[in-house]
Amino acid sequence: MGNIVVIGSASIDLVVKTDILPNVGETVMGESFFTNPGGKGANQAVAAAHLSDHVYMIGAVGDDDNGQQILSNLKKNNVNTKYMDIIENEASGTAHITLFEDDNRIVVVPAANNYVTPDKVIPKLEFFAAGDIIVMQHEIPEETIKKVVEYAQKHEMRVMLNPAPFRPLDKEIIEKVNWLTPNESESELLFENEVDKALMMYPEKLIVTKGAAGALFYSDSQQLVKGYKKEVVDTTGAGDTFNGALAVALIENKSLEEAVNFANLAASFSVTGLGAQGAMPYRKELD
Ligand code: RIB
Repeated sequence: MGNIVVIGSASIDLVVKTDILPNVGETVMGESFFTNPGGKGANQAVAAAHLSDHVYMIGAVGDDDNGQQILSNLKKNNVNTKYMDIIENEASGTAHITLFEDDNRIVVVPAANNYVTPDKVIPKLEFFAAGDIIVMQHEIPEETIKKVVEYAQKHEMRVMLNPAPFRPLDKEIIEKVNWLTPNESESELLFENEVDKALMMYPEKLIVTKGAAGALFYSDSQQLVKGYKKEVVDTTGAGDTFNGALAVALIENKSLEEAVNFANLAASFSVTGLGAQGAMPYRKELD
């Protein structure tokens, strides 16, 4: 079985649940506060590692208590952390999340995640092989994505890029990755509102996630693989669960339609618990 190598951010989420969203200059009383492990990279690694025993993460934490918590959480969740770096005199990444009316607003402070640089990442890729799947997101430096994509192409590794959060993306990178998985708003921004055209231009590569409605891709014609509805407690991390599960299904050689269906199902479970990683399903639940 091939490996899944997630290269990305690992953070601690600081979450406030509130019934009232403050206006500018206003103070309101919130409902509750909690912290839990997050970061899009770590979330995707944990989602994949609930479903596969071959998941590695390449990333960085600070030399603080949060960093230790992030690493022990990854290990506890079956993610191999031997390629994670600890950055001296740096804080671990944090994400500041407001949960309001079934949705979230997030401000990320990358800190140690800024050190996931090509010089640190590329040498570690030598331990992986052709056919392995690399999964990346946009919470690490852009240069790293570029260099990893080049390396992967040379060494016949496959790349899934989840372009979240949105930042402009070179066409060259889109051409070179195997799968690109924006959500609806990211796809509108990436393709300047011409998403249908983009889907046709990148058949079986561009997969646009639409939350509970499912996900779209193009293969002969436009396909909507319908999602599964479950009672929502917290949608944070649902997209990450989709990406982690999608990578697992693809490394198991499922067809794209089957893989997207599997990922939709996993994502639907993930919204039923609090926290980004709070309800990521295990294989048994999906079976
Ligand atoms: O996708 C959800 C994640 O985005 C959160 O866990 C938070 O860390 C932010 O990076």
